[in-house]
Amino acid sequence: MKGIILAGGSGTRLHPLTKITNKHLLPVYDRPMIYYPLETLVEAGIEDIMLVTGGNHAGEFLKLLGNGREFGLKHLNYTYQERAGGIAEALGLTQHFAGGDKVVVMLGDNLIQDSLREAVQAFEAQPEGAKILLKAVPNPMEYGVAELQGDRIVGIEEKPRQPKSNLAVIGIYFYDAQVFDVIQTLEPSLRGELEITDVNNAYLQRGQLAHELVRGWWGDAGESIEALLRVSNLVADWRVQ
Ligand code: TTP
Repeated sequence: MKGIILAGGSGTRLHPLTKITNKHLLPVYDRPMIYYPLETLVEAGIEDIMLVTGGNHAGEFLKLLGNGREFGLKHLNYTYQERAGGIAEALGLTQHFAGGDKVVVMLGDNLIQDSLREAVQAFEAQPEGAKILLKAVPNPMEYGVAELQGDRIVGIEEKPRQPKSNLAVIGIYFYDAQVFDVIQTLEPSLRGELEITDVNNAYLQRGQLAHELVRGWWGDAGESIEALLRVSNLVADWRVQ
């Protein structure tokens, strides 16, 4: 399975911190944000990783991460997204790299305490389709929310006023090679982006969307300045344990 980290986007919710740099280069406790998803994928046994970035600071990633030797990698792959056309568009740029293999995709601003090792192994064994990870949160209205019937996902709603569960869809996704065909069929949303929720809904409609619950803490450090601080504190507490 190949690993993909998405680190493009505009980062407007973290202005003014992101006015002169890319969000994923900002510090989270004692490391640049991008270190965390990279460490998570490497720890899960993923050796072949591509980073998608964009904007004016793409070169900084190369200076910071190089070939990923610090993370135990032999090589790190990069590609460039010309404009922030959405998470699904960024993923679409990795088709050649994926080369028909399954992929695990992490948003570069999502930090997770749990190891992904078992989820990766389980998805290797899943014959086809996709898998998303869900986390129980106190404020589901802020996220994509999964509706479950028994153990089956029957719907995903974006920022619902009346959430049907407290289970947020987090920024880690597993897809088979069909994902690139799905992305080809997408139309831009009202905000002009190719939406990952539309990709997940396409798999849902085919009855091919599995899920797993996340046990430890999870944070979207790009959500707000408060979230960035909260995630930094989670990491700090975890490190000193
Ligand atoms: P978001 O946080 O949804 O978008 P953003 O980074 O543009 O931030 P803001 O809404 O504050 O302007 O993106 C989630 C992750 O996906 C983030 O880690 C960056 C990545 N991403 C891309 O790689 N390309 C894109 O076009 C977008 C929109 C996001």
